Amino acid sequence: MDYKSTDGHGPNTSEPVHRFPDCDRTGPLFGPNKIKLGVFGLNLCSAAGITAAQDRHEIGWEQNVRLVQQAEAAGFEAAVPVARWRGFEGASNPWGESFETYTWAAGLAAVTKRIGIFSTSHVLTVSPVMAAKAMVTIDHISDGRAVLNVVAGWFKKELDMFGVGDLDSAGRYAYTAEWMDALLRLWTQNETFDFNGHYINIKDGYLQPKAIQRPRPPVMNAAMSPVGHAFAARWADIAFVSIDSADQAAIKEKVRGLRQLAADNGRELQIWAASLVLCAATEAAAKDEIARYIEREGDPAAAANRTAWGLAGERPSEGRKDTMQKKGSVDGGLSLIGTPAQIADNICQLSEAGIDGLCLAWFNFEKGVPMFIGEVLPLLERAGVRQAVEMGQFA
Ligand SMILES: Cc1cc2nc3c(=O)[nH]c(=O)nc-3n(C[C@H](O)[C@H](O)[C@H](O)COP(=O)(O)O)c2cc1C
Repeated sequence: MDYKSTDGHGPNTSEPVHRFPDCDRTGPLFGPNKIKLGVFGLNLCSAAGITAAQDRHEIGWEQNVRLVQQAEAAGFEAAVPVARWRGFEGASNPWGESFETYTWAAGLAAVTKRIGIFSTSHVLTVSPVMAAKAMVTIDHISDGRAVLNVVAGWFKKELDMFGVGDLDSAGRYAYTAEWMDALLRLWTQNETFDFNGHYINIKDGYLQPKAIQRPRPPVMNAAMSPVGHAFAARWADIAFVSIDSADQAAIKEKVRGLRQLAADNGRELQIWAASLVLCAATEAAAKDEIARYIEREGDPAAAANRTAWGLAGERPSEGRKDTMQKKGSVDGGLSLIGTPAQIADNICQLSEAGIDGLCLAWFNFEKGVPMFIGEVLPLLERAGVRQAVEMGQFA
């Protein structure tokens, strides 16, 4: 088949969406829990927030395996890595150390049994042929639990390492749309095809074997901007968003808008959000911990670089900057801070507002994950937004 993206199906046209088959909906992300949960950013140092505190998150393979296995045993649906290639320097160089995400996912796929294993991919750094094959391999290793999280890129300094730091937002998303189109064809078509795009050209495209999940694994897209959300509505099964308001009505409206965008394309979209978690016995203690991480033991030079180094058009708004400064959340999005009961209530409200899943990150995962499992999860189960995991269920 000769496929020309400029002939009607490709990006930047008013033609109808090319109908690729829906993903397999039998995997971990499509279970009965009303609010799904993921561990987010274990593969990245200082994933949740910028701090020079001694007990900030440092990465290690044995630790990543152990924490993902703990989350899996507690019934979490997702292990989601952050894609990063360099850090924000300063005293602690936050995000400066990370495990590459396809190989991270492959390793975890081999040592888990049930949890959804994500790979997060900067599309500009990898050919869709390579990505399609890596994901199929992870899907076989995990026996059908692979999920691809597609990102268009955030920081120029790291994309410059690949020679692709100069595309503006429209260019990045046009590229990303072609990349997705090519990847979906490789995943779902048995016949070979030519793909003649503006950015991507494939001669006699071929991919075998196909994934275990038929016709294809799920795709998530992480984005914040309207152009990003329009992309998710057209190409992804899950929109992974950053919620920058604590107002229930505003969150409901955001979720409604995203679902409508997908419905306009004749599609269904799950909505997941990222959140920092800081849980303590009292609200005052939780707030004091935040102040310690961000103010008393903060890393102001790195925090300043984080706001300055975004790609053009992706510098945080004043509102987001405020959240980043006061709560230490790296993306200026949600933060769940307080007692177990307060955090559980907050999560129930997010579920009520229509959020389908939360990807959670902690300043210190080693302390935070077990505490969340021991003290918050039972409250979510009692509230009916999650089911209890039966002993031995995943043995
Ligand atoms: C929840 C969430 C997770 C993200 N994860 C990543 C990531 O792992 N790597 C990355 O480069 N960008 C990540 N991004 C940033 C996006 O790639 C993008 O740069 C950002 O959302 C701003 O631009 P856009 O919304 O127009 O895409 C993430 C964004 C969100 C909202």
